[in-house]
Amino acid sequence: MTTTWTHIPILAQQIADLLLVNPDGVYVDGTLGLGGHTRCLLARLGASARIFGLDKDAEALEIARTRVNDDRLKPVHASYTEAANVLHAAGISSADGLLLDLGLSSYQLDNPARGFSMLQNGPLDMRFDLNGPLKAADIVNTWPLHEITRILQDYGEEHHAEKIARAILEARKQAPIQTTQQLAQIVEEILPRYGKKHPATQTFQALRIACNGELESVERVLHLLGQIVHPGGRVAVLTFHSLEDRLVKNNFKKLAQSGSWRLVNKHALAPDYEEVRQNHRARSAKLRVIERVL
Ligand SMILES: C[S@@+](CC[C@H](N)C(=O)[O-])C[C@H]1O[C@@H](n2cnc3c(N)ncnc32)[C@H](O)[C@@H]1O
Repeated sequence: MTTTWTHIPILAQQIADLLLVNPDGVYVDGTLGLGGHTRCLLARLGASARIFGLDKDAEALEIARTRVNDDRLKPVHASYTEAANVLHAAGISSADGLLLDLGLSSYQLDNPARGFSMLQNGPLDMRFDLNGPLKAADIVNTWPLHEITRILQDYGEEHHAEKIARAILEARKQAPIQTTQQLAQIVEEILPRYGKKHPATQTFQALRIACNGELESVERVLHLLGQIVHPGGRVAVLTFHSLEDRLVKNNFKKLAQSGSWRLVNKHALAPDYEEVRQNHRARSAKLRVIERVL
């Protein structure tokens, strides 16, 4: 049986409206995923336009290559923090636009083998890049109490961080924690469930962010935007939680204050009721767009 993976691109038409300043330009989709946004962008671009589609996940890149099936897309296995180098290697000094759709794709979340989901059992992996050095299992089985507590607080905004970290250390004394369901159960046993949200949601978010150095990458790319897009070019960033959105909001504000950039939308745009109804994963999305003026 072959699985057809899907990922519904969020705010796709709005992103195309706001990002595409030049119909025959060069763009970077820094988080190609399954190529959903890129497909929408290509549908609105001319024959000589190009999109460099970057992703840390080599499996996703292969799926995107087939799904998009368009010579104007060049998939590249790289972090978006390498976007300027990828352009330079292709003989291009800078791009007309950069898109970042942060976080993980439905393909990664829905594939139990990748270990992102607490609802399906799988190995405790959570790496975007399967060559990456750090799995979630490494963190829960080897890190000290204070380090696990710190990431649960800082990356999960988890109020019960220390309590969960202690339970993890207690459980690993018996045997290594190898699977997503083992970890979900450890948290479920000590935390009450409020409403529909699984009590391990914040723990899983924190581990994923730590394994992939997600916030460090966002901070880095925000400092490199001037090397990636030229004057007149735009950057669109879609975020899914307050930690990412705060970073983007504050950095965009500083860039706008410098006079070299201007905010295209003063306030973050969010999907409307209908989009959230059709795609539950859109519910926490926020879109911010900035333009380089100098
Ligand atoms: C939300 S998905 C993108 C979905 C895509 N926009 C679509 O419509 O199919 C985010 C993707 O970004 C990738 N990713 C996360 N951090 C990355 C990084 N630093 N560099 C490149 N790709 C990254 C993930 O592997 C994932 O495939």
